[in-house]
Amino acid sequence: MCGIVGAIAKVNIVPVLLEGLLRLEYRGYDSAGLVVTNDGLHRLRTTGRVTELRKLAAEQKTSGLAGIAHTRWATHGEPSERNAHPHFSGEELRIAVVHNGIIENHEDIRIFLKKQGYIFTSDTDTEVIAHLIAFKLKQATDLMQAVCLSIAELQGAYAIAVMEETHPERIVVARNGAPLLIGVGKDGNYVASDSSALLKTTRNIIYLEEGDVAEINSQEYRIVNCLHKQTGEAVDRIVHESSISNEAIELGPYAHFMQKEIFEQPSAVANTLEMVFNAQSISANLFGNEAEKIFSRINQVLIIACGTSYHAGLVARYWMESVAGLPCNVEIASEYRYRDPIADPDTLVIGISQSGETADTLAALSYARKLGHLYSLAICNVPESALIRQTTLRFLTRAGPEIGVASTKAFTTQLASLLLLAVTLAKIRRHLSPEDEKKMIAALRHLPLALHNVLQVESQVKNWARNFAQKRHALFLGRGVHYPIAMEGALKLKEISYIHAEAYAAGELKHGPLALVDSEMPIVAIAPNDQLLGKLKSNLQEVHARGGELYVFADADSHITESKNLHAIRLAEHAGLLSPILHTIPLQFLAYHVALEKRTDVDKPRNLAKAVTVE
Ligand code: F6R
Repeated sequence: MCGIVGAIAKVNIVPVLLEGLLRLEYRGYDSAGLVVTNDGLHRLRTTGRVTELRKLAAEQKTSGLAGIAHTRWATHGEPSERNAHPHFSGEELRIAVVHNGIIENHEDIRIFLKKQGYIFTSDTDTEVIAHLIAFKLKQATDLMQAVCLSIAELQGAYAIAVMEETHPERIVVARNGAPLLIGVGKDGNYVASDSSALLKTTRNIIYLEEGDVAEINSQEYRIVNCLHKQTGEAVDRIVHESSISNEAIELGPYAHFMQKEIFEQPSAVANTLEMVFNAQSISANLFGNEAEKIFSRINQVLIIACGTSYHAGLVARYWMESVAGLPCNVEIASEYRYRDPIADPDTLVIGISQSGETADTLAALSYARKLGHLYSLAICNVPESALIRQTTLRFLTRAGPEIGVASTKAFTTQLASLLLLAVTLAKIRRHLSPEDEKKMIAALRHLPLALHNVLQVESQVKNWARNFAQKRHALFLGRGVHYPIAMEGALKLKEISYIHAEAYAAGELKHGPLALVDSEMPIVAIAPNDQLLGKLKSNLQEVHARGGELYVFADADSHITESKNLHAIRLAEHAGLLSPILHTIPLQFLAYHVALEKRTDVDKPRNLAKAVTVE
């Protein structure tokens, strides 16, 4: 989704803006632009990549001491130069605005502003903000006040950065529902929608809160909160030191971030579970101070998430039932928020999200609260995200920044966290003997090594990729807890290789999808040596008998023999509860290598964005 960078310093800030935009590229975008002040406002916009913007800046020798920049993921209006940000208001004394998010009441405001004589040159909701601020500036003492007055009229979730031609010495920003932060530097101050944009410039970060409006100049910043008062009340916000290393956001020896992130999974899971590794027993406090009290009170679990995080929730349902003995529902956030579900206050509502900024997940969780759910838990990878701040309990997946759009290490760390949660709930609810608790801790300690061992299958999976790259469709089959893993495998393949892939619970095959099976339809099956293996083998026979080509990920002890049209890759012996986590890795490799064969943009697949901050 869109990204914002702003900078004001005593030196030329164009390199900082461009470097920041490059760091935000992973979020997904279809146009980019910047504006700097240097004897007036100078704007550059392109529907190309950030490197194109850099080329334009070099050609036009663009420089300045203050500027704002943006990568746009189109919502209102097609991706085009005239819709790219920054947007202006005014012919001579101009206001420039960049914006993330959506203004829901933009139509009403547009009608009002047109009546006031403002002329619109784009199809965006952002241009409405620029004209509204220009209009309010006529009544306000300064830009900061005009922004406060304007945001009182804006509905929706957004973050904005604003500059004024006549006052090049300051940038004003506002946050409401979309992330925005200030970077405090030695020789200047900065703003961005994501801290990775600023890490090369400063590590001192202030995370703005809902309703905050801030003004920065090259030496200072001031922040007011306009949530309740239009004039704003001065507020203090803590300066955090970012602990994200430069290596965490650099590609290093890898070809793609996705590849790097697949290989980081053993260490990401080890970091996530570190507190358990060093303990003799599992403590509910890992999930927050009130966790023990809440965990002993609840009688069911409700999981809300989107995409890959939703798949993690689907896996967790099996663990909640079998390990913790708790009923568990799993909901797609964008569906749940528009239903009329019956709330039971003794439910633990879990929001799972890598980014912690997914608009649907955030809205569904606040809807659950409105319905009367009292207890909520966030499982999230971003410490300062909106999700983490809105739940009673929280658990951080410590996967480090995930930059590839296709989620990999976030998924396996979510699974590790959810298994730990199921075991913790089982313990608190006396479903787990001390011996079984010890066995579980031992299994979790073994997980990073087990993941490391699965990574060795890469070359075998790669051998399958060329054949897949020729196909237009693929089916993924799994049973039980491995059915959601099949869903995740299909999602990975479609999002980065653009091959249509669907997952089915293998038992469902004969109820319809079997009609699709022919030699052109590769069928991927996950065949661990669990209690459903016999049933799955019968389902695979049904495919084999109809000339389908099977690609099976089995365990060493699954006893599946290769034959004509049946290819098999074996992992280690069956890993019990850890099995779905381990069986994820070969499917990630499959998607990755098929995408390489097809020469797609692995880290930035078309039309997709990393953090989906709009509905
Ligand atoms: C797929 C993928 C998406 C995200 C989904 C939710 O690879 O990354 O399906 O899982 O957009 O995002 P988060 O987890 O940030 O809420």
